Formats: sequence, C-alpha cells, structure tokens
Amino acid sequence: MGAHYEVRGNVAVITLDNPPVNGLGYDTRVGIATGVERALADAAVQAIVLTGAGKAFSGGADIKEFGSPKAGAEPNLLTLIKQLDAATKPVVAALHSVAMGGGLELALGAHYRVAAPGTAVALPEVKIGLIPGAGGTQRLPRVLGVETALNMIVSGDPVKSEVLAALPGQKLFNKIIEGNLLDGAVAYAQEVSQARPLPRVRDMKLSHPNADAYIGFARNMVKGMAKNFPAPVKCVDAVAGALKLKFDDGMANELALFQGLMSTPECKALRHAFFGERAASKIPDVPEGTPQRKIEKIAVIGAGTMGGGISMNFLNAGIPVVMLEMKQDALDRGVATIRKNYEAQVQRGKLKQDKLDARMALLSTTLDYADIGSADMVIEAVFEEMGVKEKVFRKLDEVMKAGAILASNTSTLDVNAIAAFTKRPQDVIGTHFFSPANVMKLLEVVRGEKTAKDVLATVMALGKKIKKTAVVSGVCDGFIGNRMIEQYSRQAGFLIEEGATPEQVDKAVEKFGFAMGPFRMGDLAGNDIGWAIRKRRYIDKPEMRYSKTADLLCEMGRYGQKTGAGWYDYRPGQRAAIPSKLVVEMVEKHRAAQGITPRQISDDEIVHRLVYSLVNEGAKILEEGIASKASDIDMVYLTGYGFPLFRGGPMCYADQVGLYNVVQTMKQFAANPLDDAAFWQPAPLLAKLAAEGKSFT
Ligand SMILES: NC(=O)c1ccc[n+]([C@@H]2O[C@H](COP(=O)([O-])OP(=O)(O)OC[C@H]3O[C@@H](n4cnc5c(N)ncnc54)[C@H](O)[C@@H]3O)[C@@H](O)[C@H]2O)c1
Repeated sequence: MGAHYEVRGNVAVITLDNPPVNGLGYDTRVGIATGVERALADAAVQAIVLTGAGKAFSGGADIKEFGSPKAGAEPNLLTLIKQLDAATKPVVAALHSVAMGGGLELALGAHYRVAAPGTAVALPEVKIGLIPGAGGTQRLPRVLGVETALNMIVSGDPVKSEVLAALPGQKLFNKIIEGNLLDGAVAYAQEVSQARPLPRVRDMKLSHPNADAYIGFARNMVKGMAKNFPAPVKCVDAVAGALKLKFDDGMANELALFQGLMSTPECKALRHAFFGERAASKIPDVPEGTPQRKIEKIAVIGAGTMGGGISMNFLNAGIPVVMLEMKQDALDRGVATIRKNYEAQVQRGKLKQDKLDARMALLSTTLDYADIGSADMVIEAVFEEMGVKEKVFRKLDEVMKAGAILASNTSTLDVNAIAAFTKRPQDVIGTHFFSPANVMKLLEVVRGEKTAKDVLATVMALGKKIKKTAVVSGVCDGFIGNRMIEQYSRQAGFLIEEGATPEQVDKAVEKFGFAMGPFRMGDLAGNDIGWAIRKRRYIDKPEMRYSKTADLLCEMGRYGQKTGAGWYDYRPGQRAAIPSKLVVEMVEKHRAAQGITPRQISDDEIVHRLVYSLVNEGAKILEEGIASKASDIDMVYLTGYGFPLFRGGPMCYADQVGLYNVVQTMKQFAANPLDDAAFWQPAPLLAKLAAEGKSFT
C-alpha cells in the first residue's frame, strides 16, 4: 500500500503511506495518481488534501528504488506534479515533520500548502551531487523569492516551516496549523473549495531587482565555496533559468542540468558515500531485527587523550559516563580537558551554558572498580600494551555485571587475545575511535572471533546514536584503516628516497583532494607512533622493504609538531609547516649511502602510487573478509582519513579509473627497481576483477 484514500465530507484525503518517510516509490506514486483521479471524478468531492502518514509528509525519492527501473516508471514525479498542477479542484498539501526533496517538489505542485510548525523543509539533492530535478529550482524561487530559495537549494539544509512562513511576502505556506494538522487542512480545503482561478505556482511571477548582478555574485560565491563539486554552481544556473526563461523552458533547463550531473564522477562519488553510509550498518549475517542490549550507562577506563574524547560522545548523547583511572590527578586532568573542550564550544557560540552544565552533570569519576560494575558497557582506553590491557580485562571480567559489553579502543592489538583474558569473549568487542574522538566521525567496530551478534548489533546502533559512521572490521593488524595506511606510508617513504621532497608529496596529494598529505599527517599524529609500530612489526620481517628515512627522522628527535620539528620545521606555537633544510640533508645523505641518484617524480606518479597502495591493500582486506564490502573501506577513508569525498573513497576511485587500468599502472610501478616489485603484485581479488572487467562495487 503506497497511499490511502478517504473522503471527509466534501474533501478527499490522500495519505502517503510508505514507511519510514513516505518515499515516493512506485506504489506511492500510483496511489497518489489514482487518488487524484478518483477525487476529480467524484462529484461529491470539492477539494483534495494530500498528506503523509507516520513520521513524515515525504522524505522525497524512495532510496530503496534507486537505480532500479521502477524509479522512473510512470507515473513519475514530474507527471504527478503536472497532474496536481492541472487538477480542476483545489489541492491542499498538508506538510508535517519532514518535507524534503521530491516531497517538497510534490507539495509545490499543489495549489495550497499548509504545515505543522516544526516541519523540516529542504531540497537536499545537492548533497548527493545533484540539483532538484522535479521543478524545485523553478517553483521554490517563485514562492520564497530568489535569494531565500537559492540559499536553500545550494546548501541543501532544512529550514523549519514556521521560519519560512514568517518571511515577508512568502507564498510557500498559506497557513501554519497548530493542533491537529489533518483537521486543520480539511477545514482549510473547505474554505478554499470554491475559489477560482486555482493558484498555480508555475503561474507566479518571478523577478529580482538586480537579477543579473545578483546571479553573477551568487555564482562567484558558490564557485569559490564548492571547489571540487559541480552541483552547487548548477543550482545557481537552474535558478538563473527560472528568472530568465518561461516556466516550461526553465523546467527543460533544470532537467538538462540534472541529467548532466547524474553521470559526473563527483555525483557518483557522493551517491556512493550516501549509500555507503547506510550500507555500513548492514552486516551480512546480523539481520536487522537482531535483539540489542540496553545501554544506559557507560564506564570508560583511562582518562587520557582518547578516554576523554570517547566520554564526550556519550555525554553529548545524554548517556551517563563514569571514568576510571589509576590516580586522582589523571582523573582531574581528564575532567578538566573535557570541561575545557565544552567551554571552548560555549565561547564559539556552539553550545549553551546550560547544556554544558547538563553534560558535565552526567560525568562521574572513580578510582575503584567496584563503582563501575553496574555499567551496561565499558570502554577501555589505557596504554597500548598487551600487559596493561590484560590486567584491565581480567579485572573487568571480575567486576562487570553479567551481559555488560566489554570494549577495547586498541588501535593495533589483537582483540581476540584481549577477549581471551575474560571468561566471556562473546561480550568483548573493539571500538576503535579516531583522535580527536569527540570530533572524528569514524568508528571502527572490531568484531572478534567470538563476539556475539547482539553485542555487534548493539554497538553499531550505539555508534549511530553518538553520530558516528560505524564500520565493522574483522581482527587483523591495524584493522581496515591503519592496515591500509601502513602501505601508503611505505610508498611515501619510497617516493622520498627516489627524489621527491615531503613538500612535493604533500602538495600533490592535497591537490588530489586529501585533507592532508602523509608527511604533514605524520607530523600532526607524531612520527614516533609509526616508529614504534615499525619496530614491533618489522623486527621479524627482514624481508619487509621500507625507507629508513622515517626512522632516521625519529632518531633526530623530530617526532613532529609536539617536538617542534618533524618532516617540517615549526615556529613555536604555530602549525604552519616550513620545509626543513635538515631533513633535506638527512634524506640526501641517506640516498647517497644507498647509491640512489634522485630523479624528478611527477605529481601524477606520486598520487597514484599512494592511492593504489591503499587500493591494493583494500582488495586484500576485502578478500580476507576483514571488510564485508568495498563501500565499508571507502567509508573508513572518507570519514577517518581525509580522503576526498568527491572521489568517493579509494575503492570507488579505483572503480572509476577502471580496475584494468589500475593493474596496468601497478605493473609499471613494479618495474621500477627502486620500488618494491612484491609491493605491486596485485591482490588476487584485484587481478581477478580487472581481468573480468568488473569493479569492486
Ligand atoms: N591517541 C590516538 O590517536 C589513538 C587513536 C585510536 C586509538 N588509540 C588507543 O587508545 C588507547 C589510549 O590511548 P591514548 O592516546 O588515550 O593514551 P593516553 O596515554 O593519552 O591515555 C591513557 C590513560 O590510561 C590511563 N591508564 C593506564 N593504565 C591504566 C590502568 N591500568 N587503569 C586505568 N587507567 C590506566 C593512564 O593514566 C592515561 O591517562 C590506546 O590503546 C591507543 O592505542 C589512540
């Protein structure tokens, strides 16, 4: 059932009914079309109300239908809107909760619109690299004025109905209805049932006192802000069309712009990320209805960098947290840092003082394990040493109530081994937050061999609750993200050895769109971290080739920003990276010792050696089942590692280049004697897909 039909007095009520948000899927569109026909054919009906059941008027296109033939099947959205436009009896759209995208465009095809206060109104298409394609760019300016409409279309952000209704001269809403919306809408429909001519948005005049100047200004502004994304500028073009062209020509212009965007790599990347985010929460063998454990109280062990940030996530979500430490002063420091972070938000006007107080009131501290036993979940964020983790987990096994979830924030240690310290390995899981944990979107949820399905389902849902992008990773050294970045770092080292400078590598990668190149990132995170990992990991892998320049750097005490020097020099208190003469000398000496004659390396080679090293390791991770789908790997890189969103993540990028081409390029890299031929051996999955002309996604 996509929509219901009923008659109330002389008013027909058509109710969209396609949970969860009344997406405009095929059945719903048919339901609306037949409802309108029925109402027009019924002499007893004098007006029509169009509304939505449940939690929305309509959230727009039905994402379940995306990419399927049903999506465009008649009646399509444009046809429906024309049908409303042409109806000979007044149509009143009654909006509540959510009216977005195609849902709002549908409402703009009605003759009148009423809304409940608090309705979120938006045309969010730009967020998936598109422009509204069913008249949104032509009709919204006609009811809200060019400037307000363009702001909404370019940003895609929702605005509340009462805010829009209060704008002088607006024609979006004829009435805001407090109380029962449907009763109010039916009464309003009765009130206007005899009014003629029927007001159609398409007939409304659109003008702007300085149209050309305004559009020129808007186009420049948007171009500057949109950078690598083409859609925002096309939004301006579409609205400019609304100003200049007759309605039907403006519609044709909108459609052409929409279709032009559909096939751009940026739009594909954004759609990939949009669906990837949703797909990440779907785990092949953990069905949607898997029961979840109740999480009403969290304990965090360790109040250091990560423990504090992790705690803030839960405080923000209104979940009480108790932090445990070994010493009071560590607790005091941890609490002070949390408070300082919140205070900074208050100062920037991002948080109200009463919210700060409420959040801090949810935080308590202890030195005694007896105080945390009743928590529903405990997250360990102590030093990264197996011995310390062992002590903590043995203690947790003793004190935590039955059914509590025991999580570790370890970034490199074996979660199965940690689970084995307890008598309840089914309750143990990894929750790998990224630093700063209160800011970074990514949460790698590490599924141990014995982790119970309900534990996994609970932690994934909790991830959503604290607004993270939670991605499941199997157990392996480095999990998805750090395991891939290790290969990327190795390549970065080879590039330096062969003749590139840290600055050139960083600039090339940043031009490709990364938030930060590998050397600036190393300086920010601390080069000593990678050093320690290499010492541990490569000690019994003498065959592992890597450039020793990073070790030499650390031997010079250049750990990065925290020591005032790393791959770059830093002025006291400043973060600007200044190319370093000392580093250049160190690298030159190293090259000479290795007998390497440096060569010019192109930016293109730099970028592809780095990105394909991610892709190849990603393919291995997929093949081993560490990630269950390619889009999960992309979500890790988009949300945790600053991979450019407009490229959709490493696997999506490789698909767009074509896996055959990726493998061919890797063969060229393998032939370079200064590189590592074994490194460039394509992962079997990559080789297979490339040979079959297939893609990761
Ligand atoms: N810093 C990062 O970028 C990052 C990112 C992801 C994961 N991690 C992981 O998070 C964990 C914590 O890292 P961090 O950077 O917050 O370290 P940190 O040194 O800042 O904090 C560790 C805290 O744990 C406390 N602690 C140590 N042993 C304890 C014990 N037995 N009982 C109670 N408290 C104890 C210490 O007093 C310290 O305050 C590590 O496993 C690390 O690998 C760190």
